[in-house]
Amino acid sequence: MSTSSTAAPDWVEVCRLDDIPALGARVLERDGGDNIALFRTASGNVFALRDRCPHKGGPLSQGIVAGETVTCPLHSWNLSLDSGEARAPDVGCVTTYPVRVEDGVVWLSPGLTPAAAHAGSGVDCQHSSSATVAPVQSGLDIRLDNLEGPEVLALLREHLGSMEHTAPAESRHALDLVGLREPGITFWSVWDGPALAGFGALKHMTESHAEIKSMRTAASHLRRGVASKMLRHLIQEAATRGYSRLSLETGSMEFFEAARHLYASFGFTPCPPFGDYRPDPNSVFMTLDIAGSPGDPFDPKPRRGVT
Ligand code: FES
Repeated sequence: MSTSSTAAPDWVEVCRLDDIPALGARVLERDGGDNIALFRTASGNVFALRDRCPHKGGPLSQGIVAGETVTCPLHSWNLSLDSGEARAPDVGCVTTYPVRVEDGVVWLSPGLTPAAAHAGSGVDCQHSSSATVAPVQSGLDIRLDNLEGPEVLALLREHLGSMEHTAPAESRHALDLVGLREPGITFWSVWDGPALAGFGALKHMTESHAEIKSMRTAASHLRRGVASKMLRHLIQEAATRGYSRLSLETGSMEFFEAARHLYASFGFTPCPPFGDYRPDPNSVFMTLDIAGSPGDPFDPKPRRGVT
């Protein structure tokens, strides 16, 4: 989709507003230039930024959107979606692009002067030349799942099987099918068209505290952003349900290093055992404060909706 507006020939139609997940992003690939990330805030505003963090190049499209700020998934710099500037104490800036929404359609002007060019920042903020913009078909669709489909059951078996060699049984806390069907557990699967790409779950613990369970990416979809997408979904869902804290247990072994790195990139920090967990050298416990302030999309809302 790259239709030029008759009113403004430099504007390019890139997608529909509904194609950008609320509090998420959609990536536009560019021939001969860095990709552009389109962000949509809770209030429906859309912003376009170069998809490259001014710190060390992290993919901003995989960051967390809160208010009009995106937090880089790698080292948690907070960048203004409006100006592209890093929030203090960090210093830097990412290029932003003019974007507008008309009748549910998103228009971008990659050839215009960037909306923000901050001389003196010394980082990024220079507009690259005009380049062809084309939407990337992310193809990843997160669905509430009833744990009955053969693909999901097969991946769950694989998930549990892969845990068997990692630690003694008493140190393994992955939920089986019965456990995942318990009240208080909500389970989602991620689909790439007809192909199962992964799954993840949220467990209600207390009024203010939820736990992440059963994060798994299908072997066919490793390193394609599936886990990041699911993790962001779980964080947003937990915040929407009114929890103020989200925690998880994962393994301490090398097998789980990528998972620990992913959680840390989203701001999770090590914490003591929580809930019914006990200290265990085979376990690492991590937690994230998701309590919001007024106006923050993570602001707790009186909705539980645990299925
Ligand atoms: S790469 Fe974004 S904060 Fe380091």
